[in-house]
Amino acid sequence: MAARVTVLRGDGIGPEVVEAALGVLGACVPVHVREARIGGDAIDHHGDPLPPETLAACRDADAILLGAVGGPRWEGPLRAESGLLRLRQGLGLYANLRPARYLGLPTPLREGLARGADLLVVRDLAGGVYFGEPRGQGGEEAFNTWRQTAEQARRVARVAFEAARLRRRRITSVDKANVLEASRLWRAVVTGVGREYPDVELEHRYVDAASFELLQAPRRFDVILAENLFGDILSDELGAVVGSIGLLASASLGEGTPLFEPVHGSAPTLAGLGIANPTGAILSVAMMLRHGLGRPDLAAAVEAAVESALRDARTPDIGGNATTREFTVAVLRRLGRTPEEDAATAYGWGV
Ligand code: NAD
Ligand code: IPM
Ligand code: MN
Repeated sequence: MAARVTVLRGDGIGPEVVEAALGVLGACVPVHVREARIGGDAIDHHGDPLPPETLAACRDADAILLGAVGGPRWEGPLRAESGLLRLRQGLGLYANLRPARYLGLPTPLREGLARGADLLVVRDLAGGVYFGEPRGQGGEEAFNTWRQTAEQARRVARVAFEAARLRRRRITSVDKANVLEASRLWRAVVTGVGREYPDVELEHRYVDAASFELLQAPRRFDVILAENLFGDILSDELGAVVGSIGLLASASLGEGTPLFEPVHGSAPTLAGLGIANPTGAILSVAMMLRHGLGRPDLAAAVEAAVESALRDARTPDIGGNATTREFTVAVLRRLGRTPEEDAATAYGWGV
């Protein structure tokens, strides 16, 4: 049976990296693709960053592939980014996995520091200041509410502990418990969950110290568990550890259809140039194969093809001059595909 994948290309470089990722997906498994609009693209066409038909197409799929949303054109009251936040919320996606492994590329860190780094950020996607009510803005004042429930912390912590069991069994939970009540609850709940996993070593770090240590000694981390905002910030920092934010992939898991997207945004200044790094999107396809489509074997094949391709085709963000397409072709060739054979992908499925 073909996998049913809803594809949300979104804005900026989103469509370019999705095109690359879809080619790789189609080279691995038979896919039925259904396209839908999100973000600024959906505002332009439907006046809504998450039209009901997009949410419906996402619910009725095995997996979702997303490019990126946002850009300077949609910074008014109706923001492109709210489409993505509503999608995560609407599907009950609460655990965001953001892995990063040093692949021998140049990084801004001191020579040798990043070597051997291999970590996974597990970020809560459902709680924190992103969604807390009340929130508002008026005149000279604006406010948000940082709300943390025990259940939100508990369920994402369990995902992190399970992931740690498949890795080096070490978790660093990140918070700001020296200042925030929400963090004190977070720390207490994570400690409690940790008792269910005596085989996993748990440590706590304040977010300010953790963000320094991440750049000073990235190798010491295995799984980093963080609430929504801290996880967002720390996961971009991983871009410095591996060499570019364009390399980072993610999976968002929870109650509904799993969502796979690169960590980076729409990179408006690169849009249309054909030189965006598609690695994060392609590795998101690997995560889809592993976490969404039950094909860890093919996920590993994609990861190996990417790693090998990076040895001789690099986009400008990692010091090369390859185009998005050239790098993608280098990956496809390593998967045993010629570009002409790209994707026997069918469009649509019966509803
Ligand atoms: P960004 O991730 O788009 O870009 C940050 C920097 O990294 C820029 O210099 C950009 O050129 C570079 N970059 C990003 N992806 C790259 C890639 N694949 N290849 C090469 N270089 C790449 O972050 P930003 O500039 O802060 O945000 C731009 C827009 O994207 C904003 O509207 C923001 O809200 C949105 N955004 C969306 C998502 C998402 O859809 N998941 C994530 C982050 C930001
Ligand atoms: C991300 C992005 C989003 C977030 C924005 C675009 C809403 O930065 O996926 O990392 O903050 O979660
Ligand atoms: Mn982010």
